[in-house]
Amino acid sequence: MSQIIPVSAFDCVVFGGTGDLATRKLLPALWHRDADGQVPPDSRIFAISRKPLDDDAYRAFVEETVRPKLGAVDAAAWARFRARLRHVRLDAEGDEGWDALATALAGAEARVRVVYLATAPKFFGPIAQRFARAGLATPATRLVVEKPVGTDLASARRINDEIGAVFDEACVYRIDHYLGKETVQNLIALRFANSLFEPLWSSQWIDHVQITVAETVGLEGRAGYYDTSGALRDMVQNHLLQLLCLVAMEPPRAFAADAVRDEKLKVLRALRPLAEGAIVRGQYAAGAIDGAAVPAYAQELGPGRVSRAETFVALRLDLANWRWAGVPFYLRTGKRMARKTSEIVIAFKPVPHSLFGESVRLEANRLVVRLQPDEGITLRLMTKEPGPGGLRLRAAPLDLSFAETFAGRFPEAYERLLMDVVRGNPTLFMRRDEVEAAWGWIDPVVRAWERGADAPKSYVAGSWGPAAATALIERDGRTWHEELA
Ligand code: BG6
Repeated sequence: MSQIIPVSAFDCVVFGGTGDLATRKLLPALWHRDADGQVPPDSRIFAISRKPLDDDAYRAFVEETVRPKLGAVDAAAWARFRARLRHVRLDAEGDEGWDALATALAGAEARVRVVYLATAPKFFGPIAQRFARAGLATPATRLVVEKPVGTDLASARRINDEIGAVFDEACVYRIDHYLGKETVQNLIALRFANSLFEPLWSSQWIDHVQITVAETVGLEGRAGYYDTSGALRDMVQNHLLQLLCLVAMEPPRAFAADAVRDEKLKVLRALRPLAEGAIVRGQYAAGAIDGAAVPAYAQELGPGRVSRAETFVALRLDLANWRWAGVPFYLRTGKRMARKTSEIVIAFKPVPHSLFGESVRLEANRLVVRLQPDEGITLRLMTKEPGPGGLRLRAAPLDLSFAETFAGRFPEAYERLLMDVVRGNPTLFMRRDEVEAAWGWIDPVVRAWERGADAPKSYVAGSWGPAAATALIERDGRTWHEELA
């Protein structure tokens, strides 16, 4: 059963208040926390945008765009949530509207002020600075920055400097929503709340690790952003590297902000530069997913468009440290893949000697952490098949399904993270040095792609990516996990 930890009344100011992130993730997250009784009565939500909306028009907009996504909604709870919503028309790049925002926030200086920048990264610095210059950055203000922080190391540094000029690092919350996923936090519990795995968690017992984040969706109307970003910057620089950090980090001293982030940073700093041929990028061609035809990426972009943006990346990386020397980490992510699945596979080494003779194939143990959907943990073990007929061995799953074990709704990542901001707990947020270390590792790859003439390899929508991604792991004598499932 979940427990509601009370928080004090707060104001949440969302720049990009009519945008995709606000309507798809932030408002639904705030609604769920409110419906569960966690949002104190006079807390308010200020949506900031350039649209000429008053409070009522914004409420109608939310009614139309957000409410249908929420399923069954209690009418009284919805009325309470609706009444919290305000709209302030403001030009984030100009001077207009800041006075109106100051007036709207006046008198609530003592309460926690969550300022969420759900905008393109180029606006992060300017908005933070204008917000502070307007005298709105109270001591209890926390600035939340969506990913991506920049598009490379130089732009990330610039943004961090611009923000850092007016906000203390302790007040800056850089979101990677993967860290708010229940199952991702479970990784920390799995490793450090059990004595079973940690002694095996090293090159001595682990052969390799796979991290897969596969999606079936395509552009989802985000072409403007995605086509200039591509999968490496959209997914690997943040979500996949953060997962890698949680798998590979040393035990932190405590589950506390800097203790955890110090250890994650060490992992990022131990990343070896990618070896020649250690990365494959792809772009989907037309295909079908679940029987429905799917157009090619270029077609989704628009008629006559061509693009070199990658919608798929697979890579092998290595960590230069004592624990992981010689253990490859294979990462892959893509859009329009065969099915939606995010999982981490810890592939253990085979037994050193088989008692059962050469004709009996022993599958090495695998620990599979399923992040989504169907959240759970599976340990594949060799077992004896019951019955006569000799000692017949077979790999069988030891399965923990979260849905079967724990009752109730699993909160969305943004619910947890937004409440962490209100509470002032930055453990599950990225520190400046982490973000910059990740970009520092990504940059040379992007630069090499830009210099080269190669285009991403084509893969059929609804597949597991280009053939070269299969070859990437097979040339090391290994296979991607789904082929065993
Ligand atoms: C976002 C990316 O950060 O994560 C999207 O920008 C991607 O391209 C999304 O679809 C995936 O998140 P989730 O929670 O659906 O796995």
